Amino acid sequence: MERTGVLFVCLGNICRSPMAEGIFQHLVDQRGLTAAFRVESAGTAAYHIGKRAHPLTREVLAENGVDHRATARQVSPEDFDAFDVILAMDRQNLRDLERIAPANAKARLALVLEPVGGGEVPDPYDGDRDGYERNYDLLLPALEAWLDRLRG
Ligand code: 4NP
Repeated sequence: MERTGVLFVCLGNICRSPMAEGIFQHLVDQRGLTAAFRVESAGTAAYHIGKRAHPLTREVLAENGVDHRATARQVSPEDFDAFDVILAMDRQNLRDLERIAPANAKARLALVLEPVGGGEVPDPYDGDRDGYERNYDLLLPALEAWLDRLRG
């Protein structure tokens, strides 16, 4: 069976998109759908390539039972055919994706919060732990909604 590919994208691929990736993979695993999905994350920028997720992203994930190990990478033109959906954390990420998307690419692009009414996941990089906790709470219902949508 062809797996459904879901790629989460933010700017640096160390704060928001790894959090979304970790939560979504956890939901997929909890529902027994591990073999049906390919879940990854990437950044529009190259600043943090090769680094693990921000300590506060990993801390908030760990407190919610989620282990995140992937290292940061930059989104590439191939991603637009390798994944079915590419979910952006904010409008700037979405604009950047639209700019680099090859013509006739397979992936559908959307804001990750689209199923819960749209809006953006704020960049928490220069802030404290509260921002990371708020992002977890923002992302969870949206990711449950994406999983319901994509498994159908
Ligand atoms: P992210 O957060 O896009 O959620 O990973 C950021 C990480 C790093 C930077 C900005 C945002 N930075 O400027 O290095």
